[in-house]
Formats: sequence, structure tokens, C-alpha cells
Amino acid sequence: MTLDWTGRMDGGSPRSFPDELRDPFALDARSLLTSTTQIDPTLALLGQLRRHHGASADHSIRVARVLITMWRHAPERLGDPEPLLVGGALHDIGKLFIPASILGSDRKLDPTELELVRRHPETGAQVLRRLGFPPVVVAAARDHHERWEGGGYPSGVRSSSLHPLTRAVAVADAFVAMIEPGRAYRNPRDGQGALAEVAACRGTQFDPEAADILIASLGSKPRPAEDICAG
Ligand SMILES: [Fe+2]
Ligand SMILES: [Fe+2]
Repeated sequence: MTLDWTGRMDGGSPRSFPDELRDPFALDARSLLTSTTQIDPTLALLGQLRRHHGASADHSIRVARVLITMWRHAPERLGDPEPLLVGGALHDIGKLFIPASILGSDRKLDPTELELVRRHPETGAQVLRRLGFPPVVVAAARDHHERWEGGGYPSGVRSSSLHPLTRAVAVADAFVAMIEPGRAYRNPRDGQGALAEVAACRGTQFDPEAADILIASLGSKPRPAEDICAG
């Protein structure tokens, strides 16, 4: 596929995508980001991702929702909400270049397929850079699978050396991956179990501060998984 961002995609105005997304996320994003120039291209790309593989778009919106919940809890520590929301919503946009048959597969992937999946951070970053998104949004796509102590991908560097926004996206992404339905090989965890896993991995996989913000912002909710995964 080609991603030729010119303000119009697939013959339609980007402004038509919020309806197509059928998601309160679009309205929420607009109310939060009144001065943004990025929300239309963000929603357009999410619309592309939804048509390619709906579960990946749902996942991306959940990650953005978690990040905004975190921001509302600790705005002084997470800074400007716009790159946080856009970076979260587009962190997996590189999955546009993975066949939907692989993304939706419930069998063990072969090494070639796994390699393709593991390239999505770099391809996503390339797309966002080409479309003129800010460097921190590009970095969120490139670095969201890096780990606090190193050993993630694509570079394996310690995420302590990376931008804090990237580390917030990483913990939100992992939390959502634990609680959401539709993942191959396992059932979703309940919200409290997933929060306990985040706590157990703070300082190894996750930035301790980002993990603490996520736990504090969602831990008081009796059913955090249902809150985040509700349509
Ligand atoms: Fe990812
Ligand atoms: Fe993700």
C-alpha cells in the first residue's frame, strides 16, 4: 500500500474519519487538542489502520486512552498532552505494512513472519517522519518496544536513555496488551492482575515513574480493564 498524505486519503476528507471510527476517542481528542494541527492526520491514519486490521486500531485507541488517563492524573510530569495522545494513537502505525493475515494469525509465526512483525517500529517511524510528525511522535513509534534495562527492540538500548514520552507509551502499550481481548495464545488478564504485572516490572521492563503514574491513575478504578476496553 502507499501512504501519500496530502490531506485527502482514499478520496475522502480526513474529517470524515471520526464518524467512521465510531469512537468517542475522536471527540475526546478534539476537545483535548483544540489547537492541534495533528489530529486530522492522526485520525486519518487510524482510519487506514482500522481498514487494514481493526483490532490494531482498537488497540491503538486504547493505548491513547490509557495515556490520556495518565496525563489527567499527572499533567505536570507528562507535559504536553498532544504528542502523548498522537504518539500513543500512532505507535503501531507500522503495522499497516504487516499483512492482516499475520496480524490476525492465531498460530505460531515462522521466523520470517516474526521478523516482519518486529520491523513495525522502524517502518512506523519512517512513515511518521515522512508525513512531518514531530520527532517525539516518531520516537514513540520507533522506541515503544525498548525496555528500561535494555534488551528490547529494535535497538536494544536502555529506555532510560530515551525520551520520557516513549517510556510512557511503552508501559501503556504493555498494559493494554495484557487486558485486551483477541490476543493469540492467551486470555486477557483482569485489570488488577495487569496492574500487578506492571508493578512487578517497574525498573526492569518499564520506566519506574511511568509505571507508577499508570498504576496510580488506573489503580483506583474498580474495573480498569473494562474502562479501557469498553467500546
Ligand atoms: Fe508495537
Ligand atoms: Fe502496541
